[in-house]
Amino acid sequence: MTKALEGVRILDMTHVQSGPTCTQLLAWFGADVIKVERPGTGDATRGQLRDIPDVDSLYFTMLNHNKRSVTLNTKADTGKEIFTKLIEHCDVMVENFAPGALDRMGFTWERIQEINPRMVYASVKGFGPGPYEDCKVYENVAQCTGGSASTTGELDGFPMVTGAQIGDTGTGLNLALGIVTALFHRERSGRGQRVTCAMQDGVLNLCRVKMRDQQRIAHGPLKEYPQYPNGEFGVAVPRAGNASGGGQPGWIVKCKGWESDPDAYIYVITQAAAFPAFAKVIGHEDWLEDPEWSTPEARLPKLEQVFDEIEKWTMTKTKFEVMEILNPLNVPCGPILSMKELAEEPSLRATGTVVEVDHPERGKYLTVGNPIKLSDSPSEVKRSPLLGEHTDEILSEIGLSADEVAAAKAEGAV
Ligand SMILES: CC(C)(COP(=O)(O)OP(=O)(O)OC[C@H]1O[C@@H](n2cnc3c(N)ncnc32)[C@H](O)[C@@H]1OP(=O)(O)O)[C@@H](O)C(=O)NCCC(=O)NCCS
Repeated sequence: MTKALEGVRILDMTHVQSGPTCTQLLAWFGADVIKVERPGTGDATRGQLRDIPDVDSLYFTMLNHNKRSVTLNTKADTGKEIFTKLIEHCDVMVENFAPGALDRMGFTWERIQEINPRMVYASVKGFGPGPYEDCKVYENVAQCTGGSASTTGELDGFPMVTGAQIGDTGTGLNLALGIVTALFHRERSGRGQRVTCAMQDGVLNLCRVKMRDQQRIAHGPLKEYPQYPNGEFGVAVPRAGNASGGGQPGWIVKCKGWESDPDAYIYVITQAAAFPAFAKVIGHEDWLEDPEWSTPEARLPKLEQVFDEIEKWTMTKTKFEVMEILNPLNVPCGPILSMKELAEEPSLRATGTVVEVDHPERGKYLTVGNPIKLSDSPSEVKRSPLLGEHTDEILSEIGLSADEVAAAKAEGAV
């Protein structure tokens, strides 16, 4: 069975998280991803947040599966010559350096096109053109500047960042889509093109519904927000705690064991259609006949009380028992699953969403596999490369003799 992207060669100049997420995904789909790393050190994440001394960190291994590693000093003359051959050899080049880093090496987009007009050249930057285009950016900066932090958090609390890496991994996903789209276009046009994704844009795209609400505010209060009707709205979309964004009231409530287990909670949504069954199961059949409670409009100003009553019931059950009882009643709900529970969940192992990988230096570890499943091109997750593991093999593939490789090594170019 051939892989969907078999035959596509990717020159991977990425580091940290956003870029590596993108190229890892393309590698899972079968592309040959050649990761270019600085001799001696490589991607800085190899050494960051290490759990085992002198062994590539999980940060690195979990973002660089299925790739090959070549070391190359792209600032040295010989390194630049080799890099030029790699550009000729590959279909796609991906980078997420600080703005201007590749230009400073002498590899501008114009130069890359001269070397290989079919090249798709893809970059992640923190910001698009504008006042901040030269800034270096990490995950939380993107979350703050893309609208996520201002709309996340307790009603009267600080702006909050989320644990989901929406700026880094989120933008890496956008970049992967841009690359395959440009490759598809190249099939017809014969030419490559530039793909750029800004992390601010990626986060804002994920906050689309909040931009929707920003415009709705001009026409009256946002009735699905907990500020309505008892609180006040300002000029911008407020933080809404754990309220459901979809117009159906939802909240996180405690379950049995919450006193000692920080994840003994469940998210419940009191969707109008399922409310009668929900009310009955929590012992509030009385609400159904009472005009003070029977309609969504009547309940809206009293949602806190509704969820307090629901919580009295959920606290008598585990989050999994609540899930089992509510699901047949069509009540949308979801237990708060810890990372430990997710790591141990058999169904996620069965689908390859959580995978155990063996590494020659660290031994077995868990990783998150490909979240996108193709029926004819299933992903096989292979370990990340050691620094420079494939240098000789890759340099030979692009035409360097054994003597040339040895000379390049001797002068520190690889
Ligand atoms: C992530 C980021 C903040 C890290 O910044 P940093 O650690 O200072 O690293 P830089 O990207 O500036 O690169 C450092 C230098 O290494 C050089 N370098 C990288 N690989 C090299 C190689 N193989 N050979 C020689 N030099 C190399 C770069 O050219 C750059 O040199 P320069 O500053 O002289 O131009 C920055 O790269 C960035 O803003 N990237 C874009 C946004 C992004 O992707 N952020 C999310 C990361 S998860």
